[in-house]
Amino acid sequence: MKVSELFRYVVERGKENDPRGKENVERLFSEARKEYEALAEEKKWEFDQENLWNPYADSRLLNNPGDPDVKRVLMGINIDSAEVLLADRLREKGDKLDMVIGHHPRGIGMPGLHEVMDIQVDFYERWGVPVNVGESILEPRMKEVMRNILPVNHQQAVDTARLLGIPFMCTHSPSDIMVHNFVQKHLDSANPYRVGDVVKSLKDIPEYRNAVLLKNGPVVVVGREKNRCGRVVVKMAGGTGPPKTVYKALKEAGVGTMVCMHMKEEHIELAKEHSINVVVAGHMASDSIGMNLLYGELERKGELDIVRMSGLIGPK
Ligand SMILES: [Fe+2]
Ligand SMILES: [Fe+2]
Repeated sequence: MKVSELFRYVVERGKENDPRGKENVERLFSEARKEYEALAEEKKWEFDQENLWNPYADSRLLNNPGDPDVKRVLMGINIDSAEVLLADRLREKGDKLDMVIGHHPRGIGMPGLHEVMDIQVDFYERWGVPVNVGESILEPRMKEVMRNILPVNHQQAVDTARLLGIPFMCTHSPSDIMVHNFVQKHLDSANPYRVGDVVKSLKDIPEYRNAVLLKNGPVVVVGREKNRCGRVVVKMAGGTGPPKTVYKALKEAGVGTMVCMHMKEEHIELAKEHSINVVVAGHMASDSIGMNLLYGELERKGELDIVRMSGLIGPK
């Protein structure tokens, strides 16, 4: 398999599991094509051609000199220059690493982060928040995320990979969609009664079990284990955290407990104010589940040989 084929495979897996549905994802491409065609000739060079087939602006093939075959990959949650240098160091010592794969966006994937947040509207709709409400609460948050990323040095790790000639990609939303759907289904079938049952049920998933041993397992941050959990929703995909206004909308939609990867202090206060129990499942463990689901089939078939590092927890 070529590096470019692996990247296409990952995007396709995201599309298969996308909460927006196949038809709506295809609609994005036809809208992007119309937008491109309507652009004045002198504006066409600015258009991101990736929008015509990849609905995940935060997931990109960042460096691919010569599009080589790929079998053995160094994979982590955060890939920075240190990790790219590590790949080079290991190669120097004889390890046959073909490329580096990260989860969190890097390079051109970083300023694309706010563009994938639109998926959150589809989650909210499933939780009982109408799309018009979802869109209106999400829009200011998308603009905030866009502004926050402006000063970041996007290309740092990509430049390191380029100079060392190491293929590099980041796969963010397709992985987060996988873990989001998986954990929601897992909890739906466990049918928990109390918040403590939600935590217990999460600990049945191997990556969360492994995280417990690293003192980084699932914890209740709002509410008590003894509380009745009510309707449980999982929020793990959609680029980044939700807007502060989401907790009011969740209360009105009848949600009892939210399960997420991580939560900022100011959001914890708002969830408390609206009586939403919150279980933080764990950031690295949750992102690890997504990456393991995304690449697991290729790994099991022996088509990929994955060397895990930088926070990526294995399923065993
Ligand atoms: Fe993630
Ligand atoms: Fe993450």
